[in-house]
Amino acid sequence: MHVLVIGANGQIGQKVVDLLHSSEEHTVKAMVRKEEQAETLADKGVEAVVASLEDSVDEIEKAMSGTDAVIFTAGSGGKTGADKTLLVDLDGAVKSVEAAERNGIERYVMVSAFQANNRENWNDALLPYYAAKHYADKALEASSLSYTIVRPGGLLNENGTGNVAVGEQLERGSVPREDVARVVVEALTNPNLKKRAFDLTSGDTSIKEALQSL
Ligand SMILES: NC(=O)c1ccc[n+]([C@@H]2O[C@H](COP(=O)([O-])OP(=O)(O)OC[C@H]3O[C@@H](n4cnc5c(N)ncnc54)[C@H](OP(=O)(O)O)[C@@H]3O)[C@@H](O)[C@H]2O)c1
Repeated sequence: MHVLVIGANGQIGQKVVDLLHSSEEHTVKAMVRKEEQAETLADKGVEAVVASLEDSVDEIEKAMSGTDAVIFTAGSGGKTGADKTLLVDLDGAVKSVEAAERNGIERYVMVSAFQANNRENWNDALLPYYAAKHYADKALEASSLSYTIVRPGGLLNENGTGNVAVGEQLERGSVPREDVARVVVEALTNPNLKKRAFDLTSGDTSIKEALQSL
């Protein structure tokens, strides 16, 4: 598949781009916000497009053109306020879903957040963020797309182990960004994960086996 990575300059995004770029099965188009980020990627031989989730749906659709799958791993981050949470994590994500529907995208994989589906388990300090993730996921579920929603626990910068836990009722936990990247790339082609949403933490089961068990 030719895969658009939205949030390609992010910490998970860079790992996803590397996995796709070195894969024999996929090719990658990296969506970034700055010209210099696109140039750095081009120097590595990675196709890149400059666009923002704050652009129009038309612009996002243009950035997506020529691809058959989308991995969304963008986020406004903790340094901006609730306005950007609304405009990027919610409206930006929903605009990318609309663009994907218009573009006939075959697979859409969303990086969401642990228990974003369940209000009772939202972190009190991050309520606008969880609400944004919740409704972005709902819009994706209501779309015509063949989606997978991956809801990771706290993200770590340690090396991945390749072993995870997945499901709906996991204990709260954390997971290396490297393992999240591997899971979302695996989700592109795993037929078991079509129209599925699940939490993800570190665990004892290999990624392939864990995803097969869902
Ligand atoms: N932190 C956690 O513990 C946690 C837990 C669960 C889920 N998540 C989710 O995991 C995902 C990725 O996490 P991460 O650690 O890789 O995040 P990250 O390093 O902050 O990367 C986020 C990326 O999103 C990009 N971005 C921000 N605004 C954008 C816009 N308007 N248009 C397009 N791209 C935009 C950023 O671009 P620039 O590089 O140009 O700034 C950045 O590359 C996010 O969806 C986050 O909500 C995080």
